[in-house]
Amino acid sequence: MRAWRIGGAAAAPLAEEGAEAAALWGAGATAVWIDGADLVAYFPDDVRGAPPGDGRWEEVPDVDHVAAYLAGLAPVDAGAVVVAPTHCQAVLRAGQQVVWLDPGTAFGTGHHESTRLALEALGGLPLAGRRVLDVGAGSGLLAIAADKLGAADALGIDIDADTVPVARANAVRNRSRARFLEGGFGDVSLEPVDVLVANLYAELHVAWLAAYAALAVVGGDLLLSGILDPRHELVRDAVDLLEAAAGVSGPRLTWVDARRDGAWWLVHLRRTA
Ligand SMILES: C[S@@+](CC[C@H](N)C(=O)[O-])C[C@H]1O[C@@H](n2cnc3c(N)ncnc32)[C@H](O)[C@@H]1O
Repeated sequence: MRAWRIGGAAAAPLAEEGAEAAALWGAGATAVWIDGADLVAYFPDDVRGAPPGDGRWEEVPDVDHVAAYLAGLAPVDAGAVVVAPTHCQAVLRAGQQVVWLDPGTAFGTGHHESTRLALEALGGLPLAGRRVLDVGAGSGLLAIAADKLGAADALGIDIDADTVPVARANAVRNRSRARFLEGGFGDVSLEPVDVLVANLYAELHVAWLAAYAALAVVGGDLLLSGILDPRHELVRDAVDLLEAAAGVSGPRLTWVDARRDGAWWLVHLRRTA
């Protein structure tokens, strides 16, 4: 790749006309930006002739930006689980489990607050012998983590078909028994679960609260993440409404706690009847 650098003095009149970027884009630039007093545009190697403006060519080393991004990623310590990119060494404290995971096309590396909150909350629950459902599994990280933490069964579902092979490959890489199915919550038939974890968003949790509660066994835990501040109040209102409508036979939920990381909340509920 080559860069066409127009020195400050030469760039100034162009900038005043506001035509500099348009002219360079028009000549086939793939990126245009101001570098100090200079105007710089990237062009592919095969561009013909000199681009507009009184510039000079510079050779630009080819950089694999994806590789550079990956190399800069560090492991995430999320309580009982450390999520580590495969190029890293993971240093574990006693009792911690590692999930090896490289960023790919599916959401969920542990770097986002909502995922980290869900991992920490999973790590704080007794999981041994319990069945875990991960709604909106993305990369599969939460289901894989639940399996590593001793769950009897960990199933992830995702409405986005493209995520399912990614999650399955991540499970294989981690020697995890976590299973993944394509399907939207409410569309796929699901067995009762002891723990339901879902990193989605507040409005969806509100819409599905009764269905979550019905799917959980009595004593089951719901970990609802992806809730932007202050929308956890919507979830609290929905829990109150469900309780008011529960009567003698409906599922009842109790509010265990809500945790915050930056602008994100996780709400922990438990089915009590
Ligand atoms: C924010 S990502 C969470 C990924 C991962 N569980 C994590 O915590 O990092 C949300 C995922 O939910 C999926 N999703 C959205 N709506 C859904 C639905 N109705 N049923 C199942 N999955 C859904 C999306 O495709 C996406 O992969």
